[in-house]
Amino acid sequence: MQVVAIIILLFFCKTAEFRKTNLGSSRSKAHNGRTNNGRRASSTVKRYAPGLPCDVYTYLHEKYLDCQERKLVYTLPGWPEDLLHMLLARNRIRVLKNNMFSKFKKLKSLDLQQNDISKIESEAFFGLNRLTTLLLQHNQLKVLTEEVFIYTPLLSYLRLYDNPWHCTCEMDTLISMLQIPRNRNLGNYAKCESPRELKNQKLKQIKSEQLCNEDEKEQLVPKTQVSGRPTVVKPEADSSLCHIYVFPIQTLDCKRKELRKIPSNIPPDIIKLDLSNNKINQLQPKVFEDIHELRKLNLSSNGIEFIDPAAFSGLTNLEELDLSNNSLQNFDYGVLEDLYFLKILWLKENPWRCDYNIHYLYYWLKHHYNVHYNGLECRTPEEYKGWLVGKYVRSYYEECPKDKLPSYPDPTDQDAEDDAWEKIHRDHMAKKQSVRITIVG
Ligand SMILES: *[C@@H]1O[C@H](CO)[C@@H](O)[C@H](O)[C@H]1NC(C)=O
Ligand SMILES: *[C@@H]1O[C@H](CO)[C@@H](O)[C@H](O)[C@H]1NC(C)=O
Repeated sequence: MQVVAIIILLFFCKTAEFRKTNLGSSRSKAHNGRTNNGRRASSTVKRYAPGLPCDVYTYLHEKYLDCQERKLVYTLPGWPEDLLHMLLARNRIRVLKNNMFSKFKKLKSLDLQQNDISKIESEAFFGLNRLTTLLLQHNQLKVLTEEVFIYTPLLSYLRLYDNPWHCTCEMDTLISMLQIPRNRNLGNYAKCESPRELKNQKLKQIKSEQLCNEDEKEQLVPKTQVSGRPTVVKPEADSSLCHIYVFPIQTLDCKRKELRKIPSNIPPDIIKLDLSNNKINQLQPKVFEDIHELRKLNLSSNGIEFIDPAAFSGLTNLEELDLSNNSLQNFDYGVLEDLYFLKILWLKENPWRCDYNIHYLYYWLKHHYNVHYNGLECRTPEEYKGWLVGKYVRSYYEECPKDKLPSYPDPTDQDAEDDAWEKIHRDHMAKKQSVRITIVG
């Protein structure tokens, strides 16, 4: 009996689908109104997007729709109406039409970044009165007014950067809205593209008289660099290749993007950054300087050979750093000095070379005993292969104490450890100042 019922059901679905594709959209709308459940939703999605189907899932009791990179130009019928988070990044949406999202009344976040949006109709966000987060960065918007946001009274996080904003009087209401102190997370980093005299000025900082006072506009001699900063050159490695997730925490996922450098335009409020499986073989000074909030950084599987001592400068909140599966042999003096809050350091699968240059890393870890690490094992030279680095360092002092240190260190003796640490500092300073110091034993 059940089998028969299923067969009938399947048959019915097929016919319905067949009819739906053949008849006009009005018919399909009626049909949708009648039946509405998860299974139908996914089959609809599959049929419309030639590539992969969209994912609907629940995470921490909140329902998500992940429909990124699906060549969509519009929302699809059959998406569940009780979604809380809608991810539509990297599609081909050009216009946000009136009432486009009005049936998703529970929506809290809407991610529309990296589309081709150049127009938002005045009632596009109608019905979204629970929306708190709206991502519109990396689109083609030139003008927008405050009016579109009257339907989103709870909006507290809005991204508008990397749009070619045309800063004229038409933008006055939007700009004033962004500048209200309470709206401190609305429209940060967005800059004018035109007119020329306002190029690269932040929307947050423009004075409204600069926009609307025609007389003053005449007086504004076209200055080439209003902000005093050099003109932005298109960065070589662009973070717009990566995915941004706002929920549950701000994450930039740049995994497997063939990157050869750290992207230069990483949004400053990112908390997790995944750069694993790229081709970054060096870390230059200060490459993470602008992302102070970063707590987790994944650089595994890149082929990193060298880390500049100032590479991690500014990462004072970093808690977890994954450097596994790279080509590191040691750390230069200073590499770890800015990482005050580091808790976990992944070091496995690197060709650690057990000679004097590894002492800095070893003693730093020894001194920062609350940092958990793993995988610090000698690979070269042959005689120490497979040894833990700690064992090598201890043997270094045991072998020939007179040559190396003024006093013989007992590895369990904290003073001796401190001496060794001191010596590394001293050696470094000596090297830096090119002064030769001879230690008399
Ligand atoms: C870093 O990325 C790799 C590969 O994507 C993954 O296997 C690993 O678990 C990540 N590390 C951390 C600490 O999350
Ligand atoms: C280690 O990195 C290489 C590329 O550098 C990659 O091909 C390999 O799959 C990685 N291994 C693991 C275990 O992730």
